[in-house]
Amino acid sequence: MSTATDSQRPKIVLDCDPGLDDALAILTAAHFGELIGITTVNGNVGIEHTTHNALITAQIAGLSAEVHRGAALPLIAPTMDAARVHGATGLGDVKLPELRRSLASDDAVTYLCDIARSVDDLNLVAVGPLTNVALALRRDPDLHNHLASLTIMGGAAHGGNVTPVAEFNIWADPEAAAIVFREAAPLTMVGLDVTHKVLLGGNEASQMRSAGTPVADFAADLLDYAYARCREYGLEAAPMHDATAVIAVTHPDLFHSSSHPVTVEIHGEHTRGMTVTDTRPLSNFVPGCGVPMHQVVWDADADAVIDLTVQACTAS
Ligand code: RIB
Ligand code: CA
Repeated sequence: MSTATDSQRPKIVLDCDPGLDDALAILTAAHFGELIGITTVNGNVGIEHTTHNALITAQIAGLSAEVHRGAALPLIAPTMDAARVHGATGLGDVKLPELRRSLASDDAVTYLCDIARSVDDLNLVAVGPLTNVALALRRDPDLHNHLASLTIMGGAAHGGNVTPVAEFNIWADPEAAAIVFREAAPLTMVGLDVTHKVLLGGNEASQMRSAGTPVADFAADLLDYAYARCREYGLEAAPMHDATAVIAVTHPDLFHSSSHPVTVEIHGEHTRGMTVTDTRPLSNFVPGCGVPMHQVVWDADADAVIDLTVQACTAS
């Protein structure tokens, strides 16, 4: 585990949809942060798979973090998965042990509302569709004021992956994302602008495998599968989207961000799920336009983030 003492490691609750990179984000959060809890959401694959995958990852890594099952459906959008990237069950073709871990609850929303008010200095990191976070805000509109920070892997100031202008986590539940961006400002948006610069591939998988531990082998298997899918799509390496969002919380000095109005498009025929980011000089803003300001992450020391991800996966 990390050499930092608990008092130095940021307290984290991770809301996720494991998912290959989500599983690596769990390992990263547990190594560099104090991972208090995991909540699961429908996203890359269905809720039963994402929940199983969170439990099995915690089991393999011997984590004490509780796992709470969350939303099985988006608020309004039809359910769309990313099985073509993550495999039918969400963790590729990785051989998994029999599951022995059990759920702490099947009510992630209540857990999020309770933990935000009961644990000081808590950082909520959401790396899947924002359905759980939106429902928690509906339950407790003051939720974000009880958090030290809200960081999401999602969106992009420029570009998209599921469409030319939309990133999967936002696109999968745009109504939820719109609620979170409108009502939980300021959040830190770790979007494709930066995660597409944090690319892992065969070298990193080999580094992980050389550690010779069950956790490192699990992580290497995840990365090998992700890398193979990316190569099929003509990409040279696999973007480590979710672990990058975790490291933005544990190692903020490695990142460059600035504050901008960001809103989520939910009606556009071609732009639904777009995180519309206003990068104009402040003087151009329509006075009182009412769009909340958020911290947009533009860049990172990618080599350092990659090294930290490998370090987290090759620890004991
Ligand atoms: O667009 C990348 C995001 O979508 C990541 O969180 C990945 O796990 C998928 O959920
Ligand atoms: Ca994810």
